[in-house]
Amino acid sequence: MKARVAVHRDFRIGSIDDRLYAAFIEHMGRAIYGGIYEPGHPQADENGFRRDVLQLVRDLKIPAIRYPGGNFVSAYNWEDGIGPKDRRPVRLDLAWRSKETNQVGINEFAQWADMAGIEMMLAVNLGSRGLEEARNFLEYVNFPGGTAWSDLRRSHGVENPYDVKMWCLGNEMDGPWQIGHKKAVEYGRLANETAKAFKGFDASIETVVCGSSNDGMPTYPEWERQVLEECYENVDYISLHKYFGNKSGDTLNFFGKIEETGRYIQAIGGAIDYVKAKKRAKNDVYICFDEWNVWYHDRDEDSRRIKAWDWPESPALLEESYNFEDALFVAGLLNEFIRRSDRVRIACIAQLVNVIAPIRAEKGGPAWRQTIYYPYQFASLYGRGIALNVGVDCPTYDCRVADDVKYLDVAGVHDADGGFVTLFMVNRHPDEAADLDVSLTGFAGARLVEHLSMEGHDLRATNGPDAQDRVAPGRGAGLGVEDGRLRGGIAPLSYHVVRLD
Ligand code: AHR
Repeated sequence: MKARVAVHRDFRIGSIDDRLYAAFIEHMGRAIYGGIYEPGHPQADENGFRRDVLQLVRDLKIPAIRYPGGNFVSAYNWEDGIGPKDRRPVRLDLAWRSKETNQVGINEFAQWADMAGIEMMLAVNLGSRGLEEARNFLEYVNFPGGTAWSDLRRSHGVENPYDVKMWCLGNEMDGPWQIGHKKAVEYGRLANETAKAFKGFDASIETVVCGSSNDGMPTYPEWERQVLEECYENVDYISLHKYFGNKSGDTLNFFGKIEETGRYIQAIGGAIDYVKAKKRAKNDVYICFDEWNVWYHDRDEDSRRIKAWDWPESPALLEESYNFEDALFVAGLLNEFIRRSDRVRIACIAQLVNVIAPIRAEKGGPAWRQTIYYPYQFASLYGRGIALNVGVDCPTYDCRVADDVKYLDVAGVHDADGGFVTLFMVNRHPDEAADLDVSLTGFAGARLVEHLSMEGHDLRATNGPDAQDRVAPGRGAGLGVEDGRLRGGIAPLSYHVVRLD
């Protein structure tokens, strides 16, 4: 298939917020306990954090991380996780029907995030609790000292406040499964009052209000309109969540879900614009896509297990094994986020370790990178700067969820400081190579400095503790720059990161 691509230095979408490559981790399954924290593991440090997992996390250069939930947060008492560990209560986690030992709380997590070089983005419980507990948490976390909550923190050995700037106002409050689920107007009012209190405390705090749990919810997108009408002036972001699957084994339809996600983002952009106009508001609200990933391999089986089990402690849960097809999907979804980065400022891969995650860790054993680790890593490392408005002319296909889906998926980012242009490309065609002709306007003398690719794998191939790099990137071949054009062929069902300077 012939594919013409136009990259122009001055045709820009805008500046990408680094937090487009953020992550999410929840007190759930073996994400925290048995994931980042496993005292007694040969790789554990003196505080119980696994060094091997930490290194894999550091290599991703994650800018921000959302914590502690997820559904978990909607019945979480943050006070249970502070103070001497031996006095912390064991509680029932109602979201995942398991036991929470509270051995990791805000101070331990903050310590880990600091070691990982990641900024915290904290969620407050607006399900079983409300404004009062949220504002106490804020004071504990962010106030220097001289008040009850801040002095309590200091008495726990944390002299300096964390100064957390990003706060999520609950989680998936539209979902009937959520503890403390609310109607849109009811939640919108609570979110508004909480956001007002937080901004009154510190005007530079950014707040994220809950949008729909996904675009298939019966209340979507009316939920967004109603919620925003209650709180527009006091929020900075509205959250989007979406998980993806390919149960029917229809690869092209699976990839079409990226197109569908673009429509989802566009629709929420429309809701934001509508409410802004209706309220004659001056401020802008952006999208925080704070949960996204592939999640379907073990989903049904997990639901059955959760219902049947007897409140275990950190059980294995949602430990999806990602395959090569999932890596191609994640690469394409990240491309969509880059193309929509004028609206989507923050996006969090959900989650980070063990639970629907790019990193897996065996109890007492090794940690390894799943297939999806790589596209996420490359986007995070090389996808910072200016998103370019790349033109692509290539054959398209129709599928159940979308029409006119391009076989070649391309996003381009110009890192003006480093002088690089990076093209992220996925050839979705099942059996035809893409014969590329890329014009590079405004990048006189561009040279190809790096070409990484993931190709030639069986779509169902996975990595594992005994095959850690079965699906991993290698050096790409077959592309070259001549006369200001990048030309060459890329294989069917392959992913490429091409860096030019
Ligand atoms: O990430 C797993 C769960 O998915 C989260 O707890 C919840 O917010 C979403 O439904």
